[in-house]
Amino acid sequence: MEKNKKDGRYSRIYNQLSELVKKSNSPSARMATIIAVLHHKMDTFFWTGFYLLENGAMTVNMYQGPVACQVLEKNKGVCWAAFNKKESVVVEDVHQFPGHIACDSRSNSEIVVPLKNREGEIIGVLDVDSKEKAAFDEVDARWLEKILELIYS
Ligand code: SME
Repeated sequence: MEKNKKDGRYSRIYNQLSELVKKSNSPSARMATIIAVLHHKMDTFFWTGFYLLENGAMTVNMYQGPVACQVLEKNKGVCWAAFNKKESVVVEDVHQFPGHIACDSRSNSEIVVPLKNREGEIIGVLDVDSKEKAAFDEVDARWLEKILELIYS
């Protein structure tokens, strides 16, 4: 999607989500709402969901899309890379990413954004996969980071 068009779409999604999350203080209700809206409004989102660290294991949480790996091998793949670097990771071609964990062979590009709790600790990540190559860029990173801030606001 062209960058200005994508920016406009995220802006409208952000405004909609800002209103929706006011209806509950529950982080899980907000997470569920966010992935439902993103998954159904962004055409290229093929898998949209959270992995959260549970007793040291990067464990799948709520998501939309095809069935995914339950637990990701420690310090391997894109989710762990974003978690360890404490910053968003954009992968244009997952087949070129060393250690990429393929939960579904149809995914070709990916973005992973760290999720922080109220105390600012990183507790997991938002992961989005696309069937298209190079579907994600810094526009996605900036907006998805802003959207995740709604969860614990
Ligand atoms: N590809 C991810 C694993 C999760 S699935 O894409 C849903 C990774 O390399 O961490």
